Amino acid sequence: MNSQKIDESTFRTASGLWATGVSIVTTADLSDNPFGLTMNSVTSLSLHPPMFLVCVDLGSDTMQPMLDRRAFCINVLTEAQKDLSNRFAKKGKNKFDGVDWIPGVTLTPVLKDSFLSIECNTSNVYDGGDHRVVCGEVSQLHFNNDPLSRPLIYFKGKYNALVD
Ligand SMILES: Cc1cc2nc3c(=O)[nH]c(=O)nc-3n(C[C@H](O)[C@H](O)[C@H](O)COP(=O)(O)O)c2cc1C
Repeated sequence: MNSQKIDESTFRTASGLWATGVSIVTTADLSDNPFGLTMNSVTSLSLHPPMFLVCVDLGSDTMQPMLDRRAFCINVLTEAQKDLSNRFAKKGKNKFDGVDWIPGVTLTPVLKDSFLSIECNTSNVYDGGDHRVVCGEVSQLHFNNDPLSRPLIYFKGKYNALVD
């Protein structure tokens, strides 16, 4: 098979063509301090048992608390949560200031007004280049019943809206 050398910018361009939703993946350290980051490398994995996976950068400050807690919550964002997405896409100690959230059954933060929140208990962790693949069994689903809610979409490095 021909192997082409892929430079970083080409790889980023290619990855950006994969349209995704946007989530804030949260956890809590063992002193119950909340942590979280904006993510689009999130996918459903298994039906029996119900599982999701997330791909976390080795440099993420959320990684160690997530591994220690052995649980995480995928908060799928709505169009109205673009500012929150930007806030959680930066490093910082005060990301949760003024954010409306409650601890879920796994004690991880469930963000109010998200499209959907998926609480998971970590089952497996794998190395994946400069990321780790964290797989979890779903323990609780929180649906937003607002029929007007629309998901936040990420495509070509920009936020987008879903058009019917
Ligand atoms: C739309 C979007 C998607 C992102 N997806 C991921 C991702 O899947 N995995 C990841 O580790 N970082 C992702 N990031 C980058 C993190 O949000 C960013 O590095 C953040 O500062 C990490 O915070 P932390 O170090 O406090 O955990 C994404 C950023 C944006 C804007």
